[in-house]
Amino acid sequence: MVCLGNICRSPLAEGILKHKANAAGLDWIVESAGTLGAHVGEPPHKLSQKVALHHGVDICQQLARRFEAADFERYDKLYAMSADVLEHMQEICGKKFIAAKAALLLNELYPGENRSVVDPWYDGTEPGFMAVYKEIEKACEAIVRKYRQVTA
Ligand code: 4NP
Repeated sequence: MVCLGNICRSPLAEGILKHKANAAGLDWIVESAGTLGAHVGEPPHKLSQKVALHHGVDICQQLARRFEAADFERYDKLYAMSADVLEHMQEICGKKFIAAKAALLLNELYPGENRSVVDPWYDGTEPGFMAVYKEIEKACEAIVRKYRQVTA
């Protein structure tokens, strides 16, 4: 799960997908990273922590790290929260970018529409973070449904 800072959107996506995969009995390794280096080592934004806890998902122990090209070797699927993030990932990886492994998260929910998860960092309000949580949650539900069918 990749966003810009790895403090607002992708920590939520990591926490939510881990939670849903566990509940579905799927043995997945789910992690997150950011394409910017600005917040490396920081915990998730207070409002990401708060809206996650409100839904029973604890992301307080996460620490931000920077996305790197080697992540394409480590993971089977890499979800970008937004189009600018996907572009950054391509810039960072160059020839190591594997298009078949990368996707916009919301294309799991709205196939082919190339929608981006709005970045709540700029608005900075709890309703903004709550709306982002709900959207990411729906996308994660779609992912678990899809792969549970494949592996069943
Ligand atoms: P995120 O939000 O990508 O969802 O973690 C942001 C956090 C920080 C910044 C940008 C986006 N920043 O520019 O510092």
